[in-house]
This record gives sequence, C-alpha cells and structure tokens, in this order.
Amino acid sequence: MKKIMILSGAGLSAESGIRTFRDHDGLWENHDVMKVCSTQGWIEDRQYVTRFYNDRRHDLEFKEPNHAHKVLARLEHDYRGRVIHLTQNIDNLMEKSGAKDAIHLHGTLTDLRCESCTETFNVGYSAQEGNEECPHCGNKRVRHNVVMFGETAPKYSHLQQAIRECTLFIAIGTSGTVIDIVPIAKEFKHSILIDPKRQETTSKFDPHSYIDEYFEHFIQKKAGEAMDDMMAIIKEHMDGR
Ligand code: APR
Repeated sequence: MKKIMILSGAGLSAESGIRTFRDHDGLWENHDVMKVCSTQGWIEDRQYVTRFYNDRRHDLEFKEPNHAHKVLARLEHDYRGRVIHLTQNIDNLMEKSGAKDAIHLHGTLTDLRCESCTETFNVGYSAQEGNEECPHCGNKRVRHNVVMFGETAPKYSHLQQAIRECTLFIAIGTSGTVIDIVPIAKEFKHSILIDPKRQETTSKFDPHSYIDEYFEHFIQKKAGEAMDDMMAIIKEHMDGR
C-alpha cells in the first residue's frame, strides 16, 4: 500500500510568524541554545529555562496555522491511515488546522510534563508559575514538555517505522541539522524536499554539494507556496498512474 512519510521542521511554521532556529534572525541567533534547551542548562537554571518556554507559549497564543498546515491536515484526512506526519515542531498549529495524527518528536509547548510519572497535561498558553501539581500523581516537580539537547526523544522510534512502511518521503522546512534527512532520503525511491533555500551537505567527503541532490523532487519555495506542486506529485504517487 502506498503511504506517505512527512518530516516537518520549523520552516513549516515560519509563515505563521514563528521563527525558525538556524535561519538569519533564528531563535538560536538570539538565545544560547545550551542555556535554554539542554540538560546542562536545565540543571544550572530551571527558572531561566522555564521563563524561555513561558515566552514561547505566550507567543504561540496569537499564531495561526498557514496554508501549508491546512493542506497537510487535509491530506491526513483524505488519506486517513496512509500519512505518517512526524514533526519536530512543538507548536500546535497542525492541531489548530484540524490534524489528529501529527506526531511531535520534540514535544509540545502547550503541555507540561511530570518529572516523576512522566505523564503530560495541557496548560494551554498559560505560563508555568512553579506551583503546578501533576494531575496524575500529585508530584510538584513538573516541567516544559520539550525534548532538550542531551535528552532522549522516545518518539524517534516512529522514524524507523515510517521508513519501513512508507513509499514516499516528504521533508518540509527542516535544515536536517538535528534529524539528518539525507540517510532517510536514500531509503526512498520517491521523495520531495521543500525549502526556499538550498542547504549544503556538511561533510566534505559527501559526493553531493547540496542536500536536495538526494531527493527525487526539490521544490525550492516556501511551504505555503509549495503546496500545489507537492499535491500534484502526491496525487500522481498515491493514485499510482
Ligand atoms: N517554508 C519552508 N521552509 C522554510 C521556510 C518556509 N517558509 N522558511 C525557512 N525554511 C527552512 C530553512 O531554509 C531551513 O532549512 O526551514 C529550515 C529550518 O531549519 P532549522 O531552523 O534548523 O529548524 P529545524 O530543522 O526544524 O530544527 C530542528 O533543532 O533546535 C532544534 O528542537 C529544535 O526541532 C528543532 C530542531
């Protein structure tokens, strides 16, 4: 059965006004990633890290899904059970677009997680004040539900499963810095990369200079502008002509 694997990143939400991480003026340009998004930073200053995610959560309240989120939510609906959308994004814009099955590999901003029972609970856009209690086990040590550098990401197991099960790979708005998209693309005969910018391969031993050279199709456009081209390729693939 033809199935689609989608791996999305910060670029998917850029047109909704959420900054990416590594672009010009990206989040990691203005914040020390190891201070706000690593186990070391968390040990050294919990309050500083909590404030960082409180600000992210506050910003998110006023952000709306863009055309790409809506098209991907529609795709999930139209090809129910044949789309595995793995997102690195912690925002809720796919869910706000009606998506039900997007898997958040790096966590979710609108949830907190208990450091004891590891259950999560929704806090919407409100700030974590420090007096929250886990509704599942009553523990008072709760934190942001975001995977930080130095931590395991339990949902990464879905990557291998999707590579095994799917016949078309689509990478949207990810630089491939954290999850390398080249080895994934190599596993697929059919693949699409969507990114307005050409990303150079990192190793000098790499036979290719650009990541897009590993993909069957490269749509060098912003996510919102790439959807028609992407849907044409998907229809061709899924309807098996
Ligand atoms: N449409 C599509 N792609 C875009 C757009 C857009 N409108 N704007 C920028 N991009 C592309 C950039 O060219 C870049 O390749 O999106 C990519 C964003 O890359 P990063 O900022 O590195 O974000 P991402 O790949 O999602 O980061 C992975 O790193 O910091 C951690 O946990 C964080 O999940 C994140 C992970």
